[in-house]
Amino acid sequence: MKNIVVFTGAGISAESGIKTFRGSDGLWENYRIEDVATPGAWHKDKALVLEFYNQRRLQCLNAKPNAAHKGLAQLEKKFNVTVITQNIDNLHERAGSSNVVHLHGEITKSRSTLDESLVYTINGAELKIGDTCEKGSQLRPHIVWFGEEVPMIEIACRIVSKADIFVVIGSSLLVYPAAGLIDYAPHAIPKFIIDPEIPPVNHLENLIPIEATAVAGVKILIKHLEKLRD
Ligand code: APR
Repeated sequence: MKNIVVFTGAGISAESGIKTFRGSDGLWENYRIEDVATPGAWHKDKALVLEFYNQRRLQCLNAKPNAAHKGLAQLEKKFNVTVITQNIDNLHERAGSSNVVHLHGEITKSRSTLDESLVYTINGAELKIGDTCEKGSQLRPHIVWFGEEVPMIEIACRIVSKADIFVVIGSSLLVYPAAGLIDYAPHAIPKFIIDPEIPPVNHLENLIPIEATAVAGVKILIKHLEKLRD
């Protein structure tokens, strides 16, 4: 079976009701990154950071996977599919995708501030001041903040370099190192980009832009893939 690697960003969850970051009325229009999504923010005001992510968690728990998430899960019947996502929601998993790499962490999990190998599933929507790991230190959201390393990036680069087909859905490709992943895709393979506003990727060879939302675009992608298999 061919390897399909799908790189997703906030745009794939937009039709599930989760706001993107950089659009008009995007999340970063209403919050300052340095107040809620950096180690400095955590140092300054833990309660504010926890509350910001508690809201994101509640929104995620109330959202449902859309037809784009589900379409990608269905592809597993015919391809080896790996989803590499920048999203912290769990909509790919809830749609049935079995191979999901989270580059920027997971909103449903917490992590020890003393020992980063201690990661827990959060019960419900809230992580509070006073919630501690088994060694007694405060738990933080299991999120990669701006200014922190992206531990999964090397694994992700290796996965992309072995792709037979590469797909990008709903990312502005502005945040590195994640955005640099596209350059690890082998030159000769087809590269689909699904986005209502195709980001600047003109340097890529064998580009197939699909200027559409994720839900409409994944349907078009599936038709292309059927032709590729013939
Ligand atoms: N379907 C598909 N794509 C869409 C849709 C939709 N319905 N609506 C918007 N988009 C596209 C936008 O055109 C844009 O290209 O989704 C992209 C969203 O871009 P960003 O908001 O920048 O999100 P993303 O690229 O995932 O951000 C990367 O930045 O702050 C962070 O850590 C956060 O992982 C995130 C990273």
